[in-house]
Amino acid sequence: MPLLLLLLPVIAVALDTDKATGLIKNPGWEQVRAHCGGCHSHALVTNQRADRKTWLDIIRWMQETQNLWQLQPQVEMQILDYLAATYAPQPRLRRAPIPPGLMPKAERTVQ
Ligand code: HEC
Repeated sequence: MPLLLLLLPVIAVALDTDKATGLIKNPGWEQVRAHCGGCHSHALVTNQRADRKTWLDIIRWMQETQNLWQLQPQVEMQILDYLAATYAPQPRLRRAPIPPGLMPKAERTVQ
């Protein structure tokens, strides 16, 4: 039990998220807090996984169709750096299909 108490701060640091927004506190997170929670929940951001180009596409789409304001180039860069690093595409969670040759033989085939 004392060991667990010792480990708690380590776990807390590893999952350093902002309580109010749910954003992971990686560099640039304050810019995302400032610019990305005005119209929808920050959860829409934290639930998304995308590469840098797709994040940029999402931002452009909101600017063209949803009244998202223009971001200063430096701010946009910080936001994209943050998003691409923090909410990157995840590896597939499902295993690859088993090759047909390794599958058990079917008892009978459906005609
Ligand atoms: C001016 C309003 C506004 C601001 C500010 C805004 N968004 Fe959005 N965003 C929207 C709207 C509207 C939608 C569509 C919401 C829906 O489908 O319910 C949306 C949807 C999204 C989605 C979901 C896209 C999808 O394909 O499902 C993501 C991710 C997102 N926004 C990220 C961001 C990020 C990152 C920022 C900060 C750079 C941001 N938003 C700031 C208006 C805004």
